[in-house]
Amino acid sequence: MSEVADGLERKLEGMLEIEKFEPSAEYRDGALWTDPAIYEEAAADPVAWWTARAKELLDWDVEPTTGLDDSNPPFYRWFEDGRLNASHNCLDRHVAAGLGDRVAYHWRGEEGERRDVTYAELLDSTQRFANALKDLGVKKGDVVGIYLPMIPEVAVAMLACARIGAIHNVVFGGFSAESVRERMEFSEAKVLITVDGARRKGRTAPIKQQVDEQMGDLGSLGKIVVVRATGTACPMTEGRDVFYDEACAAAAAECPAEPMEAEHPLFILYTSGSTAKPKGIVHTTGGYLTGVTTTHRHVFDLRPEEDVWWCAADVGWVTGHSYIVYGPLSNGATSVMWEGAPDHPHQGIWWELVQDHGVTILYAAPTAIRTFIKWGAEIPGRYDLSSLRLLGSVGEPINPKAWLWYHQVIGGGRCPIVDTWWQTETGAIMITPLPGITATKPGSATTPFPGVSADVVDERSGEPVAEGQGLLVLEKPWPSMLRTLYKEDERFVETYFSRFGKERYLVGDAARKDGDGYLWVIGRIDDVVNVSGHRLSTAEVESAIVAHESVAEAAVIGQSDPDTGQAICAFVTLAGGVEPTEELVEGIRAEVATRIGKFARPKRVIWADDLPKTRSGKIMRRLLRDIAEGRALGDVTTLRDPGVMAELERQIAAEGDED
Ligand code: PRX
Repeated sequence: MSEVADGLERKLEGMLEIEKFEPSAEYRDGALWTDPAIYEEAAADPVAWWTARAKELLDWDVEPTTGLDDSNPPFYRWFEDGRLNASHNCLDRHVAAGLGDRVAYHWRGEEGERRDVTYAELLDSTQRFANALKDLGVKKGDVVGIYLPMIPEVAVAMLACARIGAIHNVVFGGFSAESVRERMEFSEAKVLITVDGARRKGRTAPIKQQVDEQMGDLGSLGKIVVVRATGTACPMTEGRDVFYDEACAAAAAECPAEPMEAEHPLFILYTSGSTAKPKGIVHTTGGYLTGVTTTHRHVFDLRPEEDVWWCAADVGWVTGHSYIVYGPLSNGATSVMWEGAPDHPHQGIWWELVQDHGVTILYAAPTAIRTFIKWGAEIPGRYDLSSLRLLGSVGEPINPKAWLWYHQVIGGGRCPIVDTWWQTETGAIMITPLPGITATKPGSATTPFPGVSADVVDERSGEPVAEGQGLLVLEKPWPSMLRTLYKEDERFVETYFSRFGKERYLVGDAARKDGDGYLWVIGRIDDVVNVSGHRLSTAEVESAIVAHESVAEAAVIGQSDPDTGQAICAFVTLAGGVEPTEELVEGIRAEVATRIGKFARPKRVIWADDLPKTRSGKIMRRLLRDIAEGRALGDVTTLRDPGVMAELERQIAAEGDED
């Protein structure tokens, strides 16, 4: 360790003792919200408070006269009689206000390309593409799939759908074509928008070709639109496939935004749950836009006319939907959009982008921060990061050491950190500090946003826990909440509103409440694993592994990992007569990459002659977690065959020997 690194390490160790970080007077004085009375004001009448935000921050074609309709819980509806268009709120209203020349996205490509896309340009492209979609037969209420890398066209595609009332279903570019097919099938998508090829760290993946291999016989999918992003040669099927640029060139230039009912679905986003089948989270227009616009403005203390905002997520996840596309555009902000990875072309690229564009607010995941810690503080130290004034964290618990590093090394000790807790289901940030008001504690997302009621309850009785651990719940409906699971109303009720009734939303996370009422999110209580902030279901990975011809059975757990938060660990039983080999491990990993995506590949494979099961045949994952993490085993008396654990212990010891 260098002397500088050693000094930093000692400084951070010392700072671990600091319990609370108050907002600096300098910061507080300039912040948008500085009066804690906002919490009481919102709590006194949350529906009225949210309705006021909806009217204050959005442009309605018809202003709502109603707030919350809770006549049929848990199917809550917000601003029912209001009408608005999300694309109008993100584009037209800013251009009409004379902000057409403001940059919406400073896009930066992996090979050093720069494209500054203004609000006026984004509006033009969106109108043309909305007309192109209409020309392809897309109508209000139709589902349109989007499988694109981080290029400006991804925002155009989403906004074009919103403009005409089509429901977009974006699939993260890291998912495999097979996952895309599944999501198109579940949602009965009519059109898919994709690319010829996608770049990643200097290589180009032939996306359209991969899509074709999977999509051939999907009846509902009538058209595929292909953005020419890399010039990669790709097969085009006559009558079905069209190039994006050609479709836009042939389309009319003007497409007025159509006013939508507030409850008109804006998008579906599939996310992982307890079973192998992903859940299609449905968000609607008015409530969602209210949630993301309010939180983006106030959690990040945004001043659209001067800030340069960078949410370093992918548009394919909810973080990207809410804080790369809808929140920032609705607020008229200027964002950085980065196509690539954090280590290509070099490990300082993020900081080079911050310096080049004068980024003022950076929103990133703890897994990225831990990676930067590993690479060393001297890399960001080479760049001028003095433009930064606020930092955000999202996606997983941030360990206090990483929080302090982020605060000191990236934020120069002057930037408040907002650790924001939320989910695909919540649409917008729910638990978070307000940077001009809240004293932060490293590792805690602190308290609910105004108008949100969260609590920690006892897992059996459902009674609130005064101090200590329990299950996290959201006590009252909020505008940006999911409305249902696409075409699975029953599953929606069962998943979120059966354990504690229809008025309390079960989050699926365990949390702790401290003496100050601060919330500390611990992690999932279901079989969902969080790898580098990517949400995966163990059942989904298991079903991909057993698809391998040599595998008889598999059990997957999330094991804690210093870099990725959790990592996939798979216990695999091979088919009779098959011998375990290194090639098989690679074969299993490849199977998972094909069926789900590379990010879901198991980091560790443990061969198991048998798996620990109860007498009724249920795999006891708790024991697998204990054994993988080297902990003392919990109760094994309910096992059908307690000898299985001894055998697994031998197997793990052998694995250690091989290292
Ligand atoms: O377990 C929580 C964790 O991520 C889950 C939601 O994942 P997803 O729907 O993919 O959305 C991620 C981005 C919003 C939650 O149930 N999580 C998210 N943010 C935090 C977090 N855990 C602790 N602290 C956070 N700030």
